[in-house]
Amino acid sequence: MRLEKYIATSGIASRRAVKKSIQAGLVTVNGESVLVPGHPINVETDAVEFEGKPVEPLTEHIYLMLNKPPGYLTTRSDERGRPTVMNLVRELPESLYPVGRLDLETEGLLLFTNDGDFAYRLLHPSHEIEKTYLTWVHGAPNDAAIQRLREGITIPSGTTAPAKVKRLKASKDGASTQFEVVIHEGKKRQVRLMFKAVGHSVIRLKRIRIGNLRLGNLPQGQYRLLTSAEISELMLL
Ligand code: URA
Repeated sequence: MRLEKYIATSGIASRRAVKKSIQAGLVTVNGESVLVPGHPINVETDAVEFEGKPVEPLTEHIYLMLNKPPGYLTTRSDERGRPTVMNLVRELPESLYPVGRLDLETEGLLLFTNDGDFAYRLLHPSHEIEKTYLTWVHGAPNDAAIQRLREGITIPSGTTAPAKVKRLKASKDGASTQFEVVIHEGKKRQVRLMFKAVGHSVIRLKRIRIGNLRLGNLPQGQYRLLTSAEISELMLL
């Protein structure tokens, strides 16, 4: 594996910062300074130090969150060559894949891992893991419409389970309203179809939480590795 990729993947620093440090002579391989970011590393036998600190060998499994921008497909590859979420995590191991999916135009928290067992358990409906979305919809849904969403509503793929729906803000002219929606199912286009069923189409949709994981202020298009505390909490679910 390339030296810069090996260090960046260990989570010690961003790829750009790693490259700069290598070029500045702050990285050693088996005690010798290496100035070439692409220097090949044997991940099993080489001892790498970054700014004086040993780089832990790659853990077998990687877990990260991306703040997905709208306009990217959640798929590993697209035969029509459209932008995919994989384009945003390019420097990471190829074994990585998205856990679940967000629609093309949906943005926000998307998990990636190469731990198939973890992905399977996280997606399994029996866990009923809560996901929180922020959404902006056309018009001003009335209380009766919101109540229908809370109780469960029929969409083409079935009836949704009860949801938590909170009105956050309405534009003064009544043209749009912002909601926070908490669901624990993953029906296709669920939030969009729920609002459509009460006559209000979604303008913008952003996932901000999955279980204990919060998107926080991660900039759009950026990713970060999950902390070990976040991973172990998810494992307990
Ligand atoms: N609900 C939707 O409508 N779209 C998503 O991407 C996720 C939840």
